[in-house]
Amino acid sequence: MMIPNQSFFFIFFLSVIFINTLASPTHQRDALLEFKNEFPFNASDPRAPPEAPLSSWNTSSDHCSWKGVTCNAHSSEVISLVLEYTYLNGSLKANTSLLKLHHLHHLTLYNCDLIGEIPSSLGNLFHLRHLNISDNNFLTGEIPSSIGNLSYLSYLDLSHNYLVGKIPSSLGNLSRLTVLDLSDNPRLIGEVPPSIGNLNQLKIISFYSNKLNGTIPSSFANLNKLSYLLLTGNQFSGGDLPLILSNLTSLSYFDISDNHFKSKLPSNMSGLHNLEVFRVNSNSLIGNVPTSLFTIPSLRLVSLSENQLEGPLEFGNTSLASELPYLDLASNNFNGPISESISRFLKLEFIDLSNNSFTGPIPGSMSKLVSLDDLNLSYNKLEGRVPSFLWRMSTLMLSHNSFSSFEELSQAVVNGSDSDHGSNSFQGPVQFDLGSNSLHGSLPRWICKRTSLALLDLSNNHLTGSIPSCLMNCTASLGYIILRNNNLSGFLPDIFTNATKLRSLDVSRNQLAGKLPKSLINCESMEYLNLKVNKFKDTFPSWLSSLESLSVLFLGSNAFYGPISSHLGFQSLRVIDLSNNSFNGTLPQDYFVNWREMASVGEKDGFTSSDGIDTFMEHMGGGIYEDSMDMMYKGVDTEFPLILLMFKAIDFSGNKFTGRIPKSIGMLKELRHVNFSRNAFTGSIPSSLANIKNLEALDLSHNKLSGNIPRDLANLSFVSYLDFSHNLLQGPVPRSTQFQRQHCSSFEDNLGLFGLEDICGPVHATSGDSHQSEEFSSEEAEEALSWKAAAIAFGPGVFCGLVIGYIFFTSHKQTHMVHGKARLNHPGGIISVR
Ligand SMILES: *[C@@H]1O[C@H](CO)[C@@H](O)[C@H](O)[C@H]1NC(C)=O
Ligand SMILES: *[C@@H]1O[C@H](CO)[C@@H](O)[C@H](O)[C@H]1NC(C)=O
Ligand SMILES: *[C@@H]1O[C@H](CO)[C@@H](O)[C@H](O)[C@H]1NC(C)=O
Ligand SMILES: *[C@@H]1O[C@H](CO)[C@@H](O)[C@H](O)[C@H]1NC(C)=O
Ligand SMILES: *[C@@H]1O[C@H](CO)[C@@H](O)[C@H](O)[C@H]1NC(C)=O
Ligand SMILES: *[C@@H]1O[C@H](CO)[C@@H](O)[C@H](O)[C@H]1NC(C)=O
Ligand SMILES: *[C@@H]1O[C@H](CO)[C@@H](O)[C@H](O)[C@H]1NC(C)=O
Ligand SMILES: *[C@@H]1O[C@H](CO)[C@@H](O)[C@H](O)[C@H]1NC(C)=O
Ligand SMILES: *[C@@H]1O[C@H](CO)[C@@H](O)[C@H](O)[C@H]1NC(C)=O
Ligand SMILES: *[C@@H]1O[C@H](CO)[C@@H](O)[C@H](O)[C@H]1NC(C)=O
Ligand SMILES: *[C@@H]1O[C@H](CO)[C@@H](O)[C@H](O)[C@H]1NC(C)=O
Ligand SMILES: *[C@@H]1O[C@H](CO)[C@@H](O)[C@H](O)[C@H]1NC(C)=O
Repeated sequence: MMIPNQSFFFIFFLSVIFINTLASPTHQRDALLEFKNEFPFNASDPRAPPEAPLSSWNTSSDHCSWKGVTCNAHSSEVISLVLEYTYLNGSLKANTSLLKLHHLHHLTLYNCDLIGEIPSSLGNLFHLRHLNISDNNFLTGEIPSSIGNLSYLSYLDLSHNYLVGKIPSSLGNLSRLTVLDLSDNPRLIGEVPPSIGNLNQLKIISFYSNKLNGTIPSSFANLNKLSYLLLTGNQFSGGDLPLILSNLTSLSYFDISDNHFKSKLPSNMSGLHNLEVFRVNSNSLIGNVPTSLFTIPSLRLVSLSENQLEGPLEFGNTSLASELPYLDLASNNFNGPISESISRFLKLEFIDLSNNSFTGPIPGSMSKLVSLDDLNLSYNKLEGRVPSFLWRMSTLMLSHNSFSSFEELSQAVVNGSDSDHGSNSFQGPVQFDLGSNSLHGSLPRWICKRTSLALLDLSNNHLTGSIPSCLMNCTASLGYIILRNNNLSGFLPDIFTNATKLRSLDVSRNQLAGKLPKSLINCESMEYLNLKVNKFKDTFPSWLSSLESLSVLFLGSNAFYGPISSHLGFQSLRVIDLSNNSFNGTLPQDYFVNWREMASVGEKDGFTSSDGIDTFMEHMGGGIYEDSMDMMYKGVDTEFPLILLMFKAIDFSGNKFTGRIPKSIGMLKELRHVNFSRNAFTGSIPSSLANIKNLEALDLSHNKLSGNIPRDLANLSFVSYLDFSHNLLQGPVPRSTQFQRQHCSSFEDNLGLFGLEDICGPVHATSGDSHQSEEFSSEEAEEALSWKAAAIAFGPGVFCGLVIGYIFFTSHKQTHMVHGKARLNHPGGIISVR
């Protein structure tokens, strides 16, 4: 006992002498100047800031007046040094003269371009209450455990650096700590030391965006003053959340999102009476959500999305007013009806219940939510009517449910009496997605009331009647009109005069008839026009070739007729489908010379990388929008997920074209698919086809083509589907791996093709029909040929490093966009054949 006491006094005695010497004003000033000199400034460096840092630190004035320096008023001892945005461009040395500033209470070196490590000698600044070395991107090394010696420390902020290693358990000795911020050190790893749970003065713990793992220590249940707990973006896998949440009654901000938590929520959360933000999204939480969570009056944000939470939800029927504006319950396993009690949250602005199994109708009480602006109920099992009060939303996502009809425009809406509510301040693009429901009846007029409507998707419903011309009121803002696969009839109304922002118009698979409205010519932003499978009866709309951005044009399966005019300049066109119409006449040999996009290699071809896919998806709807389209592929009408439609293709099949196939086809070097089948083309097959190096499918069947199959076609090394059947061809079939793997029927019914023994077997010549090549009798191929769904071809090195060749989808549902990233929904649904 005596010895430690003696040595304590001895040290104390020495310190007194030491401090008295150092604390004299000139020593303090000199220490600061030495500190400044530890960071030499190189004015000739081009990256140097215009003014030298710490230029006010010079002997012409008292050091207590220097920038960032605060002294004790009586002794001129420096008690606080706060440097922010000061370009120090160097490291703190182990012997830094800061250590001479013995009375320092507060040290901030925020965004000072510090590099190197934090010296463990900082643990000697015993008087520090506030240590803030944040936002120095190149500050690395471990957190010195000596910081645990700073027993007066109340604030510790080492966030936004590049610190490595583990959190030292010595921090558990900082018993006065109220703020601990270690966030955004992406290489900070390991488990949180349980000793942190000893720090019962802590109000703020911020550990977000690190690589911490393991469990939240149960000792955290002691932190009864804790009001902010931010653990988002780590790799935590567990912890007794029920225990912690039931004890931490001071919590106002709880964010454990983006981790791997697997636990349950406590059964009663009413003790958290200060809770404002509750973010637990993107974990693997299970079980039910206690109603008591929703009855906490202070709530401002609830995000439970992307977990495995389940059960019906009740929001509580207390009369307490709730201020909650933000409710995100998406992507869980919630079921049962959406409770009428949701209207308790009168201030709600954002609701996302998508990707659950909610049933029943949209509760009528929701009409009371006058601030609601963004409603996403897509991918549920909801049914009944779509209420008209929803016209006010800026984002209305109801797709993939079973809604059956639209409510009539209510009198209130007609009178415009509720037009002053909530959403009117919203300036951004408005999106209505009601696709893939069972909607009957005609398009509701309330849709036209929504000014700045940018996206309208009613595809895959049973809508009847005509497309209302009141849509004219919105066309100036509309970017996407998707009405595919309904029973809409009548004409396509002439409403596009002001539709200069329209990028995508898809009215395919309806009963639309008549001529195309000439106002389409004003759609200068149009990229994608799909009129397939309707009853349009018109001549070829060659005037569309003035739309400079048009890259996909589908006119297939209509009643278009007549010649397709001679020299078109579809400069951006990537895909054209004219199939199954009554186009006729001959095509001049130089027909394709102006189709620049299909001829260009690379250049605008941004889709040959996964990066390009993102760009494309952004094109097609800002990353939240999924779409698909269909086209003839290998003789089968096939639905393609639009995200995969990155190749270039021509389909002129099923018309009445005569004359020769234009030689200029060979200029479209980037084509993947060429289909001229079921016409009356004569003459020989242009050997220029061999120039289309990436060609994958070529269908010339059912024509009157004569002569030989050009020998050069054997060089097409990516081709995997060829069809020359039902022509007048003769001579030898070129020999190549690609030719040998074709089905025998691809050559049948010609005048006299020979050399087919390998393909059709030794007996057959051109009439072979039973023997299948090995390739196509394989199991995968059979599955692929069932063509329930999309099939698609990519050239070399495309799409996130997937295989060269064909990718077959065996299920119908393809892509679902989540936060701008494409996710292929069918697990293991990609089969590579080849
Ligand atoms: C100062 O910057 C110039 C220009 O970048 C460089 O050539 C020189 O070596 C630097 N001097 C020192 C001492 O770092
Ligand atoms: C920053 O430090 C580096 C390396 O010590 C030096 O080369 C550079 O010139 C310095 N820049 C400035 C502006 O002082
Ligand atoms: C010294 O500091 C003062 C402000 O304290 C400043 O105005 C002056 O320009 C500085 N002198 C030099 C040589 O940097
Ligand atoms: C501090 O240490 C460095 C080496 O890290 C040394 O060059 C320098 O002289 C020392 N400064 C003082 C004041 O001791
Ligand atoms: C500071 O803490 C370290 C361990 O964290 C310990 O070894 C050292 O003795 C302490 N230094 C002082 C001066 O108390
Ligand atoms: C650290 O300093 C920055 C800049 O002044 C400040 O924004 C931050 O709140 C400080 N940290 C703490 C814990 O006070
Ligand atoms: C905490 O402090 C105690 C006594 O002051 C000391 O024995 C212990 O080693 C310290 N813990 C750590 C982890 O530094
Ligand atoms: C936590 O991470 C460290 C290093 O990254 C690893 O060694 C340890 O096994 C991990 N612990 C858990 C529970 O995952
Ligand atoms: C919960 O907090 C109380 C005091 O607020 C404390 O006594 C108790 O030990 C804590 N429970 C746990 C499990 O830490
Ligand atoms: C369309 O606009 C016209 C004039 O601006 C207006 O009279 C009409 O009511 C609007 N139609 C709808 C359905 O809102
Ligand atoms: C097109 O917009 C102009 C100006 O915004 C407007 O005056 C005109 O009425 C609009 N025309 C149609 C057909 O909506
Ligand atoms: C093309 O078809 C139209 C009718 O659809 C017909 O009048 C015309 O004569 C045909 N032209 C040729 C060259 O067959």
